[in-house]
Amino acid sequence: MKILLLGASGMLGSDCKEVLNEEHEVIAPSRQELDIVSWDVVIENLQKISPDVIINCAGFTDVDACAKEEYIVRKVNVEGPRNLAQGSARFHCRLIHISTDYVFSGRKNVPQPYFEDDPVDPISEYGKSKVESEVAIRENAPNYLIIRSGWLYGIHGNNFVSSIVVSASQKKKKKIRVVEDQFGSPTWTYRLAIQIKELLKVDLKGTFHATAEGFCARIECAQYILNKLKIKTPVEPCTMKSLHRPAKRPVNCILENRLLKKRGLNVMVDWNKDLDIFLERYGKELISLTKTGKS
Ligand SMILES: NC(=O)c1ccc[n+]([C@@H]2O[C@H](COP(=O)([O-])OP(=O)(O)OC[C@H]3O[C@@H](n4cnc5c(N)ncnc54)[C@H](OP(=O)(O)O)[C@@H]3O)[C@@H](O)[C@H]2O)c1
Repeated sequence: MKILLLGASGMLGSDCKEVLNEEHEVIAPSRQELDIVSWDVVIENLQKISPDVIINCAGFTDVDACAKEEYIVRKVNVEGPRNLAQGSARFHCRLIHISTDYVFSGRKNVPQPYFEDDPVDPISEYGKSKVESEVAIRENAPNYLIIRSGWLYGIHGNNFVSSIVVSASQKKKKKIRVVEDQFGSPTWTYRLAIQIKELLKVDLKGTFHATAEGFCARIECAQYILNKLKIKTPVEPCTMKSLHRPAKRPVNCILENRLLKKRGLNVMVDWNKDLDIFLERYGKELISLTKTGKS
């Protein structure tokens, strides 16, 4: 299969490139080569490449920056996907688009999960833009798959897991503060890439949840990471409100992969199993980032 992968320099895109390259021809232009915001550039590339599938891992993903950069967020997260959707219709290719748990308000009682057909009700600019991206895809792409995931971590980007390791290693013997009132499923981008690879094998259309199995509070995840890596820094609970971040976040980010399971297509595993493998593989590398001052 010929795949046009957007956002390949990002956290999920990097793992998708690696995983999908094993079985497919993956063409992964940089943002400079293919800016999804430009209709002309999108069409020109689709004509030239003629892919069987477009996978869109591109996006404006900084939730707090989204609160301040409304114009560019709409361009990248809404107009970009709409261009890809209309392009996929014109060139008769499949479109896989990545969306998020932040399309929901998070007000459902924990541990009740969100299902694919629950009403969306975003509470942040980021979440709103992703809802609009989903609408643009459904309205314009005849052959689409929207995959909602959440709490992504991987080795190719800054994320909750890497920031916990880096900050806990930096502040030796001091404490780190982690929120106790947000719940979700830490999901390894490498596993999600494998799930996407599996979905390429089947003729499937619609909106699907794909997060790791099980859930935890942020603080539980942080403590789990530090225990695994034998980092002794104490973890102090705090609330999301106390952090005064520009964007609101949903409390309940738990998604159930109900439709994947119904079709026997769910390959996602327990969040702590994948975190074990990830930390085993990359724990030392993450700790060494602290020493070089990167995060
Ligand atoms: N991170 C999470 O926890 C999370 C959770 C749920 C869903 N998601 C969704 O999953 C997807 C991937 O997230 P991620 O965290 O892997 O993203 P990321 O690491 O922030 O990477 C974003 C990618 O998008 C590219 N990009 C940005 N603007 C572009 C444009 N105008 N044209 C083409 N490419 C552009 C970036 O290129 P440059 O490197 O050149 O800037 C980068 O490769 C996103 O749709 C996100 O909304 C993420």
